[in-house]
Amino acid sequence: MTRYAHITGWGMAVPDTILTNADLERMVDTTDEWITSRTGIRERRIASKTESTATLAARAGRKALESTTLSARDLDLVIVASASPEHLFPATACLVQDALGAVRAGAFDLSAACSGFIYAVHLASQAIRTGAINNVLVIGAETLSRLVDWEDRETCVLFGDGAGAFVLEGRTTPGGVLSGVLRSDGSGGSLLAVPAGGSRLPASIDTVERKQHKIQMNGREVYRFATRVMASATREVVADAGLTLDDIELVVPHQANLRIIEAAARGLHLPMERFMVNIERYGNTSSASIPIAVCEAVQQGRVRPGDHVVLVGFGAGLTWGALALQWVETQRPAPAARTGLSLWSFFAHVRSIALRIWRRLEGLFWGTTSDD
Ligand code: ACO
Repeated sequence: MTRYAHITGWGMAVPDTILTNADLERMVDTTDEWITSRTGIRERRIASKTESTATLAARAGRKALESTTLSARDLDLVIVASASPEHLFPATACLVQDALGAVRAGAFDLSAACSGFIYAVHLASQAIRTGAINNVLVIGAETLSRLVDWEDRETCVLFGDGAGAFVLEGRTTPGGVLSGVLRSDGSGGSLLAVPAGGSRLPASIDTVERKQHKIQMNGREVYRFATRVMASATREVVADAGLTLDDIELVVPHQANLRIIEAAARGLHLPMERFMVNIERYGNTSSASIPIAVCEAVQQGRVRPGDHVVLVGFGAGLTWGALALQWVETQRPAPAARTGLSLWSFFAHVRSIALRIWRRLEGLFWGTTSDD
């Protein structure tokens, strides 16, 4: 029997702290007028000291689960797409799995920068279609404010922090993820990079002094690349789904620059009303931008059951990709189920502490040598 991967839950989490263009005017040589006219961004969210990629990811993931009838125990897999993961390892997804108490789930991170969420949803939907797994939590989460050079006006005005999540479930009724396009061109890797901190350039005084742990970008080249691929990926994914552009009710593009979105609309001969735009409030939240925009589109009633939606993005790598979806009617959970979820969250926290204590006791009583 043919299986389909439906999006049955969605959720987002953004920090409370807002950094406006006026704030940036006091930090670097820029103006609100320049930022607004060149990018469309008016403000962005910045993580507090107690927030990180994993905490934002867990919050968004919990909200997405709360909008379904599933509990964290039902998840088979957690994928976190991020360009600013908690650590090189362990994977942020493992920390989220532990925080949510997804006790039966595998977990891994996916690195495809701003295209990461599209890559992750595509892979999750493929795994669901095979029948190997059924319930997947996919999260795009970022704290790019930690990687931004706050003295570089060309990049610091662009990025923001946040997380967005989808729950995907296998069903036999048609709909959900219809087609996907994933592409990359590593020859453009140096156009947008955090060069140091990996095996090529391990952290040293020199790398810190040269600011090689910060985002370095050739904005004009990235802009040219982005305007080229947004329209072509959209056309390709729509054709692969057996649809035409006229069938698409909404395009949810990566929110990197309003001018890039407008160029894509022109290239596709579609009116801007068919594009979801919220860049003015969040800036570029990389892998989180598309799921955050989807959450707000649903909230605003711009996505209804039966609608065909395209998600399209691009990013460092270079990477780009698109998904064609058919939004489906989903069953909303009873309020009692939500109470159960918060109880389970509390249990997950206690469980995690108990497991850490147990590991210590085990080492203490049964020794630490590997030949025991
Ligand atoms: N305030 C004022 N002036 C500025 C600023 C600023 N914040 N930043 C740059 N300028 C100046 C430049 O120095 C330049 O001055 P000059 O002409 O005297 O040399 C002038 O503005 C024009 O610079 P451009 O680079 O031509 O400006 P452009 O219109 O291309 O806009 C921007 C720059 C916004 C970066 C644009 O190129 C862009 O959006 N590129 C794509 C970036 C992107 O999407 N990155 C994320 C990819 S997703 C991911 O993987 C994270």
